Amino acid sequence: MRVLVTGGAGCLGANIVERLLARGDDVLTLDNYATSARDALPDASGQLEVVEGSVVDRALVRRVFDGFGPEVVIHSAASYKDPDDWSGDLETNAQGTLNVVEAAREAGAGRLVNFQTALCYGRPDETPIPVEAPVRPFTSYGVSKTAGEHIVLASGLNAVSLRLANVTGPRLSIGPIPAFYTRLKAGKDCFCSDTVRDFLDMEDFFALLDKAMSPDAAQGVFNVSTGRGHSILDVYRAVASALGMDVADAPVVPPGADDVAAVVLDPSRTEAAFDWRAQVSFEESIARMVAWYDEHGVRAIYSHLRAPGKSGT
Ligand SMILES: NC(=O)c1ccc[n+]([C@@H]2O[C@H](COP(=O)([O-])OP(=O)(O)OC[C@H]3O[C@@H](n4cnc5c(N)ncnc54)[C@H](O)[C@@H]3O)[C@@H](O)[C@H]2O)c1
Repeated sequence: MRVLVTGGAGCLGANIVERLLARGDDVLTLDNYATSARDALPDASGQLEVVEGSVVDRALVRRVFDGFGPEVVIHSAASYKDPDDWSGDLETNAQGTLNVVEAAREAGAGRLVNFQTALCYGRPDETPIPVEAPVRPFTSYGVSKTAGEHIVLASGLNAVSLRLANVTGPRLSIGPIPAFYTRLKAGKDCFCSDTVRDFLDMEDFFALLDKAMSPDAAQGVFNVSTGRGHSILDVYRAVASALGMDVADAPVVPPGADDVAAVVLDPSRTEAAFDWRAQVSFEESIARMVAWYDEHGVRAIYSHLRAPGKSGT
């Protein structure tokens, strides 16, 4: 299969690319390395083409799509690192998505998989959040990603938009898990915002993605999650336990003004539509994450929120 991955050097992107290459697909990545690095990807080969550039560059996107002729597009590129950069986020997440959608259509791609943030729900009325819940984003990232998702859905392409829980796995450099790992190892104090999030192991994410890439699979929007929430204090305890550290609980502080108290997605419609269900436990996911950091270290930590050390993607 010929698969074009935007944002292919990112946390999810690089893991996806690695997996696609291993199963024999031809892959092209398009990334400007805004929140990643070229060395996350293997050297270009007959099987892998690596293009440095932005999805905002419409002419480049057209050229790359036309030249490669993807059967499937995985749109993983996203901008979020400066919460005050509304223009930059809109350029990449809305205009960039439009460029990708138009180029995918021109190139005759048979399926587009888009990734959406759970922050699209804003401050939800209930948790777990059903996929039919109102979409009320209020951050630059959430608003611009939601514009992008609407563009995908309105495009007429054979497309699915996956609203993701916090995916844990190799290369994760955002959120409370790498933050606690780094601070605990350095003997530094930690604090936990009084919030609840859901975490999904990369293995479970891949199992769903394999199905979602098929042109015959369901179209539309789907929550991808275990459906189970864990407090940030739970994360702290699980990281400490996986590190073999016997530490007192970190202080729990009220969420910041731009934070959301609980984000837990209800995956029931996804489970029915894709005959899929998350299998890996929370504790096992965190233990895998800690083992990966022990071997590879933690890279720069970016946040989608204003204050450092907060949770949520
Ligand atoms: N990882 C998660 O748990 C999670 C949760 C919810 C949604 N998502 C979504 O999944 C996708 C991937 O997220 P991630 O966690 O891998 O983040 P990431 O920052 O690691 O990856 C995003 C990639 O996009 C690239 N990029 C940014 N602007 C670009 C541009 N203009 N042109 C080309 N490339 C550009 C970055 O350099 C990076 O490699 C994003 O769409 C994100 O919104 C991820």
